[in-house]
Amino acid sequence: SKKCLERISLIRICTLPKHITSSEHFVALYSQLRKDGWVRSVRSQKEVLFLHINDGSSLESLQVVADPSLEKRDLTFGSAVEVQGKLVKSPHRMQNMELQAETIRVVGPCDIWSFPLKMKERHPLEYVRQFPHLRCRSNTLGALLRIRSEATAGIHSFFQDNGYVHIHTPIITSNDCEGAGELFQIGVKKTHFFSVPAFLTVSGQLHLEVMAGAFTHVFTFGPTFRAENSQSRRHLAEFYMVEAELSFTESLQDIMQVMEDLFKTVTSTVLSKCPHDVELFHKYIAPAQKGRLEQILKHKFMIISYSEAVEILKQAPQTFTFKPEWGCDLQTEHEKYLVKHCGEVPVFVVNYPYDLKPFYMRDNEDGPQHTVAAVDLLVPGVGELCGGSLREERLPFLKSRLQRLGLTDAYQWYLDLRKFGSVPHGGFGMGFERYLQYILGVDNIKDVIPFPRFSHSCLL
Ligand code: 4AD
Repeated sequence: SKKCLERISLIRICTLPKHITSSEHFVALYSQLRKDGWVRSVRSQKEVLFLHINDGSSLESLQVVADPSLEKRDLTFGSAVEVQGKLVKSPHRMQNMELQAETIRVVGPCDIWSFPLKMKERHPLEYVRQFPHLRCRSNTLGALLRIRSEATAGIHSFFQDNGYVHIHTPIITSNDCEGAGELFQIGVKKTHFFSVPAFLTVSGQLHLEVMAGAFTHVFTFGPTFRAENSQSRRHLAEFYMVEAELSFTESLQDIMQVMEDLFKTVTSTVLSKCPHDVELFHKYIAPAQKGRLEQILKHKFMIISYSEAVEILKQAPQTFTFKPEWGCDLQTEHEKYLVKHCGEVPVFVVNYPYDLKPFYMRDNEDGPQHTVAAVDLLVPGVGELCGGSLREERLPFLKSRLQRLGLTDAYQWYLDLRKFGSVPHGGFGMGFERYLQYILGVDNIKDVIPFPRFSHSCLL
């Protein structure tokens, strides 16, 4: 049967196992092919014209072999083409198949003189960052975006497979979940639109807590926004957060187990589904990361308490810009040292000072160093990857804390949740870009999101 399979993606052609590509069945099925894509390289020899075309489905490009008479002036690097021909087994060791072109049509030419990407060059991430509208055509960003897509699917599968209900929490909200004042206010000129001040969400947690009062296990995965005036390599103004909330749990251990299982399951999925794309990062961007993840997946994550962390920092043989003291927030330099001290592996830090953390965290009722049941997961190279806690489900405790903060009126609905069938519960949030940064070893968070937004920058 002669089929013109224009929609067969390169990933299916280039990654077919050898025994399939050489089989009679395959050749019969795919012998006549129309392939669309963008030219990654052109090499014209006296007797033969070689092209490599890529359609974004794979790091690999399909080799096209053509008669030089098919060469056209606008058949250049970067141009969009449609090639029709015969798919045959390639005589070259490095590839399974090649396309013997019968026709080549340039669908969209490319002005190579002003095109910022150059043929066969490995462009640094900082360079391509200047071209957010074109960088997805580079190998590195192509690989990143495919990994991002697989990781997204992996996160959804993890939760769905474990019985969680996916909730679309709102992007526009009237609450400041974290109470850190990092809100983007919307509709400043149209103050009456909602009749109350409205903001872009910093976290879907409080809305998830509403849902956890009906569904036991819920999750959300969407954009969150923080007006942090930071140019740091791990902060964005718009980032994606994976959040989960679990009812009927009294133990921080349960929350940590879900964080660890999520991390390990999604990472295994990415490693098995995108081996070549991940390899590109571990070969050219972060060679030290090669083989590390596989090791990390095999071992249980470490757990230390905040108080232990402060002791470790106090005994460190180095001085810190911010002197470590019980009651002070852990700074990036502290997180870095703690991870190094623990052997460059992920480490949970639990039970933070009561006064450091937001109103919703559960009081441990300990003393004299008063703490809440909070947990942060720190990872090498990135610092804080996840933040979570048990939530204060006891009405009197929550009421008095909100009263002290002068927030009782704004959070009447939240107090209601503790009046009507309240249960012990907890949850966490994981920064999706920080997750990608860590597993791929990417230094700057701006290189793991398609269109980064940060202070003084909103290109496109
Ligand atoms: O620790 P955070 O602030 O926790 C919360 O927002 C909780 N309400 C989540 C929950 O319990 N449902 O943020 C969670 C994670 C951080 O650990 C970090 O990975 C990421 O979100 N994050 C950022 N990522 C990129 N840019 C920023 N500006 C970020 N701020 C936080």
